[in-house]
Amino acid sequence: MTVPREQRRVFGEVAHAYEGVRPGYPAEILGLITAYVGRAVRTVVESGAGTGKGTALLRGLGVPLTCVEPDPAMAALLARRFDGDDLVSVVVSRFEDWIPPSDGVDLLASAQAWHWVDHTRRTHLAAEALAPGGVLAVFGHDYGFVDADLRAQLNLVYLEYAPEIADQPGRPVHSRHPGAFRPEELRGSPWFTDAEERRVMTVVRYDTARYLTLLSTFSPHRMLPEQQRSRLHRALADRVDAHGGVLEQKLTTWLWLARRT
Ligand SMILES: C[S@@+](CC[C@H](N)C(=O)[O-])C[C@H]1O[C@@H](n2cnc3c(N)ncnc32)[C@H](O)[C@@H]1O
Repeated sequence: MTVPREQRRVFGEVAHAYEGVRPGYPAEILGLITAYVGRAVRTVVESGAGTGKGTALLRGLGVPLTCVEPDPAMAALLARRFDGDDLVSVVVSRFEDWIPPSDGVDLLASAQAWHWVDHTRRTHLAAEALAPGGVLAVFGHDYGFVDADLRAQLNLVYLEYAPEIADQPGRPVHSRHPGAFRPEELRGSPWFTDAEERRVMTVVRYDTARYLTLLSTFSPHRMLPEQQRSRLHRALADRVDAHGGVLEQKLTTWLWLARRT
């Protein structure tokens, strides 16, 4: 019997590509986190560290950082990246199965990965992991387009080749996910207070080949049957080529912060 592929497990299939093309996080995000925390941070845990793009940012705190990452291929790249760094330790585990220290950590962060943690339990798990007054920092990118016309053209391609992952009004492509983070999780939680959102905008340029590689790291694309994915990617590549072979992605990096009561 074939075991169905789980969407949360597909990143390891393209771990090297992921490391090569996914954008990291602007330094401002770390500044916003430290300003919100407002006191010294002694311990940090990162959920869903992947190949270490969020870790590289959090490492700037200069304190012990535990990276929890369930995928062995992603964790292997992460471990290699921070090999010899005494402050970074890698635990191959789902966040749901990780056992926090009994006195809790000062900061729990998750970059583009909180939506993979069981959404029915994650706020409580976060509260259990944090020391009183500790901070939860959940962040990630929304991938927008500098050129609205190109965005519309690409969406027509999605509608033709993969309507199941085409854009919907008011919701950026790639951001749809049943476990997507919702602010009410923190605002309505008895375990958290002072929930606040911050945003940082940047622009990242991709040529056609790198853009296709980027798309091949998005889980909704990975879940398409291979033939359908190739047809979709060929048609998207044609559009980007017709646009001059370069696409500017407008990244909105959102950050949600809340304090453990
Ligand atoms: C989109 S990647 C983000 C990786 C990295 N944080 C970054 O910003 O590039 C999502 C990561 O979450 C991990 N993940 C999936 N399920 C998880 C879970 N239950 N607990 C913790 N991490 C999980 C995946 O293996 C993957 O590495």
